[in-house]
Amino acid sequence: MVFQAKPYDPSKMKLSSDGWVVICAATPGAPVVSVTDSFTRNTGYQAGEVVGRNLSVLQGTKTSPDAVEMFRFLMRTGESGRIVILNYRKDGSEFWNVCDLRSIKNDAGEITHYICMQHMATLI
Ligand SMILES: Cc1cc2nc3c(=O)[nH]c(=O)nc-3n(C[C@H](O)[C@H](O)[C@H](O)COP(=O)(O)O)c2cc1C
Repeated sequence: MVFQAKPYDPSKMKLSSDGWVVICAATPGAPVVSVTDSFTRNTGYQAGEVVGRNLSVLQGTKTSPDAVEMFRFLMRTGESGRIVILNYRKDGSEFWNVCDLRSIKNDAGEITHYICMQHMATLI
């Protein structure tokens, strides 16, 4: 499943090295458990500034509500998908974030965590 808030041509985009985010599904508010150094480089947020928080901190006035709704849908259903969403770095600058979201389930089939690989997309 692919959701794009804005049509884009992948052949005209350069993607940053992948950042990874792990989020806990069992805790209310779906807080971040861990991020990689690439996430920090892409967003300007240090791990200590996002761990324990919801990643809606990356969203802002021009972020598509439909893209946010798509996150909620994938989290609720446990489906995998790609969401291209307009996000904001800590310094307030905008970037297109290409997010590949997956759910991690335990033996009972319950979602315990979500994992997301993220690329910052730059037009070339
Ligand atoms: C693993 C994972 C990674 C996420 N990464 C982002 C992200 O990079 N940018 C973003 O805007 N939202 C991201 N989200 C979505 C938000 O964390 C949040 O789930 C979404 O805003 C809907 O929650 P809300 O109803 O609290 O706003 C991610 C969600 C998960 C589960």
